[in-house]
Amino acid sequence: MDVFEVIHGHRSIRSYRPDPVDESLLTELLEAGVRASSSGNMQTFSIVVSSDEEMRHRLYWPHMEQEMVRQAPLVLTFCADFRRMRKWLRLNDAPDNFDDFFAFLVAAIDAILVSQNVALAAEANGLGICYMGSTLANADQIGEILELPPGVFPVVGFVMGWPDEAPAPRDRLPLSGLVHRERYHDHTDEEIREIYRDRDQAGWDRYMSIPRLRSLVLEAGVENLAQIYTVVKYTREGHARYTQSILDYLQEQGFLPHRTVQSD
Ligand SMILES: Cc1cc2nc3c(=O)[nH]c(=O)nc-3n(C[C@H](O)[C@H](O)[C@H](O)COP(=O)(O)O)c2cc1C
Repeated sequence: MDVFEVIHGHRSIRSYRPDPVDESLLTELLEAGVRASSSGNMQTFSIVVSSDEEMRHRLYWPHMEQEMVRQAPLVLTFCADFRRMRKWLRLNDAPDNFDDFFAFLVAAIDAILVSQNVALAAEANGLGICYMGSTLANADQIGEILELPPGVFPVVGFVMGWPDEAPAPRDRLPLSGLVHRERYHDHTDEEIREIYRDRDQAGWDRYMSIPRLRSLVLEAGVENLAQIYTVVKYTREGHARYTQSILDYLQEQGFLPHRTVQSD
């Protein structure tokens, strides 16, 4: 398939057939994944492939009980990983400057780029994927299940398998609202209304068309899509909780200053 066809054909898939993904195909996808650009070609990421049913069932809880985690044959967790690199530095008497937040961001970018390469390679082969924000939100619980040592932090993850649904494409904001030429243009209120005009309607209609989401929204008494986002979905309390647990786990995993990766 043409790369544009693959990109434009993307839809998040949340319902999967039980058929496994062939090991040789999985390897091909991972090989494509690791071709992604990487800071200094350090490849400061690791991919944890969960195919074992028991492991996927354990991951179901920190992934906020999303059924696709138990249903899809694979869960892929892409981790920022400076552990391997830092061990190599130590073995070579090289200074270790990677025990900080900057290192985490460098590694997180590497991991995210790889994840999207794998996603596109998978979709080019007819597989479906759906990212899960729970990977980051519940990074500590997921890290514990996957036995991630210090220096390793789960950043993004998705389920992958053979689609059992063919959802319509989700809308995107117009390019005019997303792209700035030469310098940033700070949108006026009027422009913001225009940028979000179609989404306001399509998004609200979508929530109203799914019975579970409709009752959630109506119970919360919200009146528009923007309110759905911050009254129902992304609350201040939730964000405060996730922020704190991510900071604690970053500290534990050695991505905040003055911690060193322990040798075995
Ligand atoms: C980082 C990230 C986290 C996401 N988390 C979830 C999730 O937990 N559950 C889910 O059903 N979809 C999740 N999604 C999928 C988005 O909802 C989806 O990409 C978006 O609605 C656009 O739809 P599309 O991917 O079908 O085009 C996530 C996407 C990203 C990039």
